[in-house]
Amino acid sequence: MKIIIINGPNINLLGKREPEIYGDTTYLEFHKTLEDKYNNIELFHFQSNIEGEIIDKIQEVGFSFDGIILNAAAYTHTSVGIGDAIKAISTPTIEVHISNVNAREDFRQHSYIASNAKGVITGFGLQSYELALQAFTT
Ligand code: DQA
Repeated sequence: MKIIIINGPNINLLGKREPEIYGDTTYLEFHKTLEDKYNNIELFHFQSNIEGEIIDKIQEVGFSFDGIILNAAAYTHTSVGIGDAIKAISTPTIEVHISNVNAREDFRQHSYIASNAKGVITGFGLQSYELALQAFTT
């Protein structure tokens, strides 16, 4: 089974960025724990701060992988292009967020991804990614 976690802008700053919201673990530290725990699946990771690179990656994996776990970060709320890419592919996508976007500012209340996703997991810290992984693997 091939699953990719795609992270959008500023997720490379986890550990330093607003730790009261996003915690003090870096994404790569966390990813290593996932790789160790879920060593029976092929787990990939891609991060970019650039919208088009995220779209390119979604297109690249979107007809052959078994699942995409997508934290498009701020692009969740702005990107018609990423929403269209998720709609265009055959691989199912789960939208995840570390924070509970529903409890935050108004501009975070809309997602261009959610309506084309298999589901949305938001607010469980880094565990949101693991819950999405479990949704694909169990
Ligand atoms: C986020 C929530 C977004 O609103 C924000 O822009 C992010 C991170 C989260 O994981 O909680 O960068 O996607």
